[in-house]
Amino acid sequence: MSGHGDRQLKLSLAGAILALVAVLWIGVPTGKGQEPMAVTTRRDPAKWGGNHIGESVPEYVQGDECLFCHRNEIGPSWAKDSHALTVRYREAAPEIEPFLKDRAGEVTHLLGSRHLVRLLRKDGYGRFSISGKTLVRGEDQKSWIWRGADKAGWDERLFASSCVGCHSTGVDPADFTFSGFGLDCYTCHGNVDLAHTKDKSLVLLSKKRRGDAQVITSLCAQCHLRGGESRSTGRPFPNSFIAGDNLFQDFKVDFARADDAQLNAGDRHIWRNVREVAVNGDETITCLSCHQVHGDSVQRHRRLLRAPICTECHAAEGSFREVRRYTVQSELCGY
Ligand code: HEC
Ligand code: HEC
Ligand code: HEC
Ligand code: HEC
Ligand code: HEC
Ligand code: HEC
Repeated sequence: MSGHGDRQLKLSLAGAILALVAVLWIGVPTGKGQEPMAVTTRRDPAKWGGNHIGESVPEYVQGDECLFCHRNEIGPSWAKDSHALTVRYREAAPEIEPFLKDRAGEVTHLLGSRHLVRLLRKDGYGRFSISGKTLVRGEDQKSWIWRGADKAGWDERLFASSCVGCHSTGVDPADFTFSGFGLDCYTCHGNVDLAHTKDKSLVLLSKKRRGDAQVITSLCAQCHLRGGESRSTGRPFPNSFIAGDNLFQDFKVDFARADDAQLNAGDRHIWRNVREVAVNGDETITCLSCHQVHGDSVQRHRRLLRAPICTECHAAEGSFREVRRYTVQSELCGY
């Protein structure tokens, strides 16, 4: 682990630069009770870049292949990543099996991992049915509780009509079948050119290509803006989005949700950050200023200076040690 110290140093340096930029850009709070002054230029979120609306899925390089070369740095955390595991084989979750008992004979796959597990049945190529029965996390955080009538049947259409775009990879716009269940590297890194082994600038989110705030925001928002709708299909997920595209050329969203007091902070801070970048043109903070996807950490967010978005989870003034509690809920996802 000799490179570890170096990386920390680089991260804190990056943090410091970000913080400096944040001061210059956002301005420091000037007094008690005053909101920091945000410098904003309203812009049309659909104006930059391109899209692949309605196009069929390209032959992308799959995760197993990527991991053949990247198994050491990415493999260990990927095995636990909630993106990778969002849909998995029933056999891959032995800790849940005792709670399934004999009530779930036909179940082949599971969807969800933290608060709620939906039961799936593979119905041929690229298709799942969803059971009307569900497992919810018990209060002890270890057990799973059965919800839904024992006789609740299978919904053969729901997954393809409402879930497939955000819980699986490579969705064919012709029939909404998927080419891989769970989320593969492709969903965030896009259609990766294997020539990137010699030129890292060819791959999105490499150290050389993670500077474009609008690209990053679009690619995370393709799934994390729950409540949007595709203009071309009317479905709650985008049509043939490939990381690198402009999401807002197809995905219709109501940015007023960023101010919705009813929404939980887990979702609202996302709406707020996306609106800042995509509409208000403030590119100082993106998802990656706070989140490290591989390794699932928010350590880096502690190095930022106070900004309006902090009030989603902390008080407007005073110590950051206090964190507002919130419960993530979603009508779309059924929990
Ligand atoms: C627009 C993208 C999108 C669509 C469409 C979508 N989901 Fe989700 N889903 C998400 C995201 C993002 C999360 C994680 C949110 C979080 O944890 O903050 C999630 C979380 C979940 C979870 C909870 C997982 C957990 O570990 O607690 C379940 C279960 C789920 N979704 C089921 C569904 C089902 C069933 C459908 C279709 C009816 C669906 N989702 C449609 C994006 C989507
Ligand atoms: C949910 C989005 C997402 C998925 C899916 C994803 N990545 Fe990443 N990846 C990122 C982000 C974001 C970064 C930028 C690094 C950071 O911000 O810490 C990154 C960085 C990397 C890096 C560079 C690491 C470094 O030290 O800078 C490699 C290599 C990588 N990913 C490989 C993979 C592989 C292989 C897969 C599939 C098995 C994968 N990624 C899936 C989001 C993702
Ligand atoms: C044949 C081996 C190989 C395959 C397959 C491969 N990569 Fe790479 N990848 C490399 C090498 C070599 C580098 C350059 C590493 C370096 O110089 O540190 C690299 C670099 C990267 C980087 C940039 C890392 C950085 O330090 O900025 C990312 C991100 C990445 N790969 C993601 C992927 C993804 C996603 C896939 C699958 C779609 C994939 N790679 C498939 C060998 C491979
Ligand atoms: C293709 C859809 C998709 C994309 C793209 C995506 N996510 Fe997610 N993300 C999800 C889903 C679905 C979950 C919840 C999985 C579950 O619990 O079943 C999730 C979970 C998460 C979580 C919670 C992890 C945990 O275990 O607590 C974070 C944080 C997150 N995503 C951040 C990001 C960031 C940052 C990006 C962009 C680099 C991104 N995601 C891109 C769909 C996506
Ligand atoms: C200012 C920092 C910051 C920004 C910007 C930010 N996040 Fe977060 N996010 C956090 C922190 C901190 C948490 C809380 C993690 C925890 O509770 O352990 C969080 C939680 C989450 C969760 C988990 C919610 C849950 O509890 O299920 C998801 C998903 C997520 N963020 C996605 C995103 C995405 C996507 C973006 C970009 C559009 C983004 N975040 C921008 C700091 C940030
Ligand atoms: C989505 C919720 C969320 C947002 C937004 C958020 N934080 Fe946090 N913050 C947390 C959580 C949860 C913790 C405690 C756990 C952790 O750090 O992982 C925390 C901890 C911290 C800590 C460490 C406090 C201590 O001493 O223990 C600092 C500093 C901090 N946040 C600063 C910020 C700043 C600055 C912003 C805005 C740029 C911000 N946070 C935005 C959720 C959030």
